[in-house]
Amino acid sequence: MDRAGQYQDLKAEIESVVSGETYLPARYASAACLLAEAFTPRFFWTGFYVVDPLKPEELVVGPYQGTLGCLRIPFGKGVCGASAARKETVLVPDVHAFPGHIACDSRTNSEIVVPVFDAEGQLAAVLDVDSEQPDAFDHVDQLGLEAICANLLTA
Ligand code: SME
Repeated sequence: MDRAGQYQDLKAEIESVVSGETYLPARYASAACLLAEAFTPRFFWTGFYVVDPLKPEELVVGPYQGTLGCLRIPFGKGVCGASAARKETVLVPDVHAFPGHIACDSRTNSEIVVPVFDAEGQLAAVLDVDSEQPDAFDHVDQLGLEAICANLLTA
């Protein structure tokens, strides 16, 4: 099966697992697990930074699979912070060329960050996927991850 098909299957699987679940960390944890399981080792770090309800301009680490991630990222800082500030996907083929990149793990060479919105259209979190491979992510990953994130909180 090609990657686009893999993403379609994963989207259906994640939706069926989280359907009706009201505790948001359970949704984030299940998505991180299934994505990492499907795409490791290309996916080296897979997880969520959620918008801190007490500090709306700051992300705090949520459920993830991978090595230790930094705890907090202000909006506008690094790739996750850029995605949160712009409320759009940021795909970075070479993190070393990205101004302000936050190196939680120096093995990361490329990454993609996708925003997650709640039912009211407010930014709730970002999905951060990091890879040890340079230029690991393409348009297929972007569309697949965006489709999964679009339904993650509402399925
Ligand atoms: N690479 C991210 C930071 C988070 S971690 O790598 C887990 C960034 O620059 O936003």
